[in-house]
Amino acid sequence: MINIPKGTKDVLPGESVKWHYTEDTLRGLAALYNAHEIRTPVFEHTELFVRSIGDGTDVVSKEMYTFEDKGGRSITLKPEGTAPVARSFVENSLDSMSLPLKMYYIIPAFRYERPQAGRLREFHQFGLEVYGATSPYLDLECISFAYEALIKLGLKGVRLHLNSIGCPECRKDYVVALKKYFADKLDVMCDTCKERYERNPLRLLDCKSPVCRSVAAGAPKITEHLCADCRAHHEKLCALLDASGIPYEVDEGIVRGLDYYTRTVFEFVTDELGAQGTVCGGGRYDNLVASIGGKPTGCVGFAMGLERLIMLMEKQGVDFGEERVTAFVMSQTTEYADKCMEIVAELRKNGISADTEMTGRSLKAQFKYADKIRAKYGIVIGGNEIETGKIKIKNLSDGTEEECDIRDIAARLKEKK
Ligand code: HAM
Repeated sequence: MINIPKGTKDVLPGESVKWHYTEDTLRGLAALYNAHEIRTPVFEHTELFVRSIGDGTDVVSKEMYTFEDKGGRSITLKPEGTAPVARSFVENSLDSMSLPLKMYYIIPAFRYERPQAGRLREFHQFGLEVYGATSPYLDLECISFAYEALIKLGLKGVRLHLNSIGCPECRKDYVVALKKYFADKLDVMCDTCKERYERNPLRLLDCKSPVCRSVAAGAPKITEHLCADCRAHHEKLCALLDASGIPYEVDEGIVRGLDYYTRTVFEFVTDELGAQGTVCGGGRYDNLVASIGGKPTGCVGFAMGLERLIMLMEKQGVDFGEERVTAFVMSQTTEYADKCMEIVAELRKNGISADTEMTGRSLKAQFKYADKIRAKYGIVIGGNEIETGKIKIKNLSDGTEEECDIRDIAARLKEKK
């Protein structure tokens, strides 16, 4: 017996309906926003992630699935979708398309993390990336997409936390102030924070340990160190959100775990998923495209963790709908199996989902099976039906029957759909 690798999950036939519902809802919303799907490979050159996400981040320094391929290249399974989209944008000169360009993706992502509820080693993201301008209207577009997506998925009580981490210029000053503040407090802080002090001081602000949190509470605020342009951007976005009626909270603790962000960063969080309560994270990254060889391009985006979304939807009792076959065609005896096959083929051609008996079971067993798979209608084919050309369509939920010409089954079922 070979088991599934730690931190991964199968989506079983009974559960896939939840994924279809979630993905279809998100794709539908993407169409309403004029966003187009982009598909990039599952693996990329390792250098792409090192350069964009940053080698001081947990993702790059500890969590990547990196290996050498048979040609001696260093390859990494993608830990997120933003860097691959940026790579593709540059490589395919997508800046020659009309900008702004809105792209979305549904991807598996891989991070070697300690698995727990809502934290996996292979997980899935829906992401949206908007390219082509530094205007705060693009930030609003992304945030309102995410906000509407959560509503469309039937979720309640997910809060938006918003911050600005400025540009590299205003961050220089801020990091100095931050390091000065933490310098004599590191003794009481956790080992990860001690390490972050040198490597990635902004992340001292989002440690989850209660002691580190209380120390961080008194730290200087980034919003007090923003340059005039970054401040104006942040204020305009807040005003746009106010005008759109999207509730948010400015939270100076939101710094995000990836290095490419500039200015706006945001997360949608819930208290209902324990420690892994961030269902969506994103922000602006105006320097990423240039850092991997493209022209400077204003960009903003987000990604939602699909496992976390679905867990929350389950918790909140969202109705995912059902995927039920419309007709189950049964043969009185094996003699009529060919005719049944013919009928289901005809139904499928007419866009009606249909199935039939293929293992030679008794009629009673076929009815049992039809019930189990929750088929909507049952149709029995036997000598009588062939002779008279009349069949009965049985509603398997309430037992009612109606007669119909054998040639009209598809038309009659279509009326019922
Ligand atoms: P991220 O915050 O690393 O951002 O991930 C986005 C979302 O993916 C998280 O909020 C969470 O819901 C989900 N997620 C992350 N790690 C795991 C895990 N190990 N198991 C389950 N779910 C997880 C990014 O990935 C950025 N690329 C988002 C972005 C797009 N920023 C701009 N554009």
